[in-house]
Amino acid sequence: MSNIESVLNEKRVFNPSEKFVKQANVSGMAGYQALCKAAEQDYAGFWANLARETLHWKKPFTKTLDESNAPFFKWFEDGVLNVSYNCLDVHLATQAEKTAIIFEADDGKVTKINYRDLHTRVCQFANGLKSRGIKNGDRVVIYMPMSIEVVVAMQACARIGAIHSVVFGGFSSKSLHERIVDAQASAVITADAQMRGGKVMPLKSVVDEALSTGGCEKVHSVIVYRRAASETAWNAQNNIWWHDLVAGQSSVCEPEWVSSEHPLFILYTSGSTGKPKGVQHSSGGYLLGTMLTMQWVFDYKPTDVFWCTADVGWVTGHSYVTYGPLAMGATQVVFEGIPTYPDAGRFWKMIQNHKVTTFYTAPTAIRSLIKLGGDLPKQYDLSSLRLLGSVGEPINPEAWMWYYNTVGQARCPIVDTWWQTETGHHMIAPLPGAMPLKPGSCTLPLPGIIASIVNEAGNEVHDQHGGFLVIKRPFPAQIRTIWGDPERYKRAYFPEEMHGYYLAGDSSHRDEDGYFWIMGRIDDVLKVSGHRLGTMEIESALSANPLVAEAAVVGKPHDIKGEAIVAFVVLKGTRPDDAAKAKEIAEILRTWVSKSIGPIAKPDEIRFGDNLPKTRSGKIMRRLLRAIANGEDITQDISTLENPAILEQLKNAVR
Ligand code: PRX
Repeated sequence: MSNIESVLNEKRVFNPSEKFVKQANVSGMAGYQALCKAAEQDYAGFWANLARETLHWKKPFTKTLDESNAPFFKWFEDGVLNVSYNCLDVHLATQAEKTAIIFEADDGKVTKINYRDLHTRVCQFANGLKSRGIKNGDRVVIYMPMSIEVVVAMQACARIGAIHSVVFGGFSSKSLHERIVDAQASAVITADAQMRGGKVMPLKSVVDEALSTGGCEKVHSVIVYRRAASETAWNAQNNIWWHDLVAGQSSVCEPEWVSSEHPLFILYTSGSTGKPKGVQHSSGGYLLGTMLTMQWVFDYKPTDVFWCTADVGWVTGHSYVTYGPLAMGATQVVFEGIPTYPDAGRFWKMIQNHKVTTFYTAPTAIRSLIKLGGDLPKQYDLSSLRLLGSVGEPINPEAWMWYYNTVGQARCPIVDTWWQTETGHHMIAPLPGAMPLKPGSCTLPLPGIIASIVNEAGNEVHDQHGGFLVIKRPFPAQIRTIWGDPERYKRAYFPEEMHGYYLAGDSSHRDEDGYFWIMGRIDDVLKVSGHRLGTMEIESALSANPLVAEAAVVGKPHDIKGEAIVAFVVLKGTRPDDAAKAKEIAEILRTWVSKSIGPIAKPDEIRFGDNLPKTRSGKIMRRLLRAIANGEDITQDISTLENPAILEQLKNAVR
């Protein structure tokens, strides 16, 4: 374990203000501990009570947790509900006029929609989907820009029991194709293009390219939202404009009542090996988790203006744009653009204009905004803010302090939320009216979440030692399986030596107060700008290039992105020995990876070698590559290395 001991030694502590504690949904450590105790005393009963109080059930459940086929857990299985009903219809009697979404487009144009109108649009679009023969259980891939429409599309799928799989608009046609095929989708919902930073970026043509590759024969409908009025190739056989689909549709659509265990969505995410995993989530358990964390972690109040900046292409956008805030009846901001356009004051200006109270973003965005204009927040009125949040990767204490002082004006607690695509909602995060904060720590597990740190044998390690982060008991919102690959689900998350615990894939340690400090991944998953990328995916993309014989990819710390991608490549031809040639080939390969996966996966640095450092049994020794990428001297044991001379060559490689 010595290689995953913590290096951080942060001692600052920030207590919640008296004013915040007083108004908090969970007030003081005593409030938090009481909830934890209730979960400890009657685990299933704790969750059952919350599920009864929080969700609207068409038919109440009688069974809470079924562990008979572990790790395929079932929660509230005989309960019947509809997620879209819980997000929209439940508000119509009491707050139909309340603004649900304040949408700000890339160019600054603002559109507001209230709960009644959002409900109407979801019903009409759901009826439109039904008119195309899309039904309960069908998979629908959504490849759209941030918009009111993407929320409508997701909610409409939920309404009719169709399982959506949102693919981030920055992914390439190849990545999109892979996901359409794996999910065996019946329909794709897209837009002609998306607007980002003043630029028009095509989406529909990427869908066309994906569909022209084999394996997508099940797709019978491509629904296209007109965003940019850009030139779009048209296949009259299965393409239909969004506005034509909804024209004349009834604004009444009886929800499809489904079991709590009905899959709500599949979301693809990277693992350390193989192709992306289709993380399958449930309906009732998932929604419950997003709603509880809105209350516990975001301390949600009906007067809040909530803003999560994440794209719906990631889990954060699912849980804290499309589902959590709407289920709570919140007013939220949805933003199409990027934080640096037209300048690095965009976020602060939007907080001022929309009087945002709760702001949730990623450390990578915070770090880049510090760099581009650390003083800019001072030019705006940020007095509406009362709570800040961070997600996606560890936040370094410097960025935390700037966020706290400059954005939050030392008034707003920061909730550093540790969770994953697989967990569906925050797992380890502060309850801001209860816990003292320490910059860089996600603090303590939420009530009902039994987190711990263990060694390779699955045994608990003592505090202040590093180890593997595990969740010891099943919880309602967790991943149900990997779509189409239950064996991989078991292997990846419940390996035998972990005694049935959920293995999160992160290393962590706990300090003397029991606070968790996440140290990073234990597998070969990179976190680039908070996005999860498997080294294997990038290596496969590189190896698929005709110039490349073999490739290995590692991460190296990066000031803004968190991690940068460094690729070591063996060419089929001779190794370039002058910098100009190396640069030229590196550029070809960077563009290739960008086209294969998406621009986020582009290697930042490529080094060429005659071969790669391997053990005698042929395993690439990544720890050595990591040291080389970081410019460190190699002090580690290299006795198992077959070809020691390669280290010098890679160290000195032209680039
Ligand atoms: O390594 C952890 C890191 O992000 C991983 C999950 O990535 P993903 O499924 O893409 O979900 C991101 C949004 C929830 C985790 O295994 N991670 C996420 N949040 C934090 C974090 N690491 C440290 N601190 C966090 N707050």
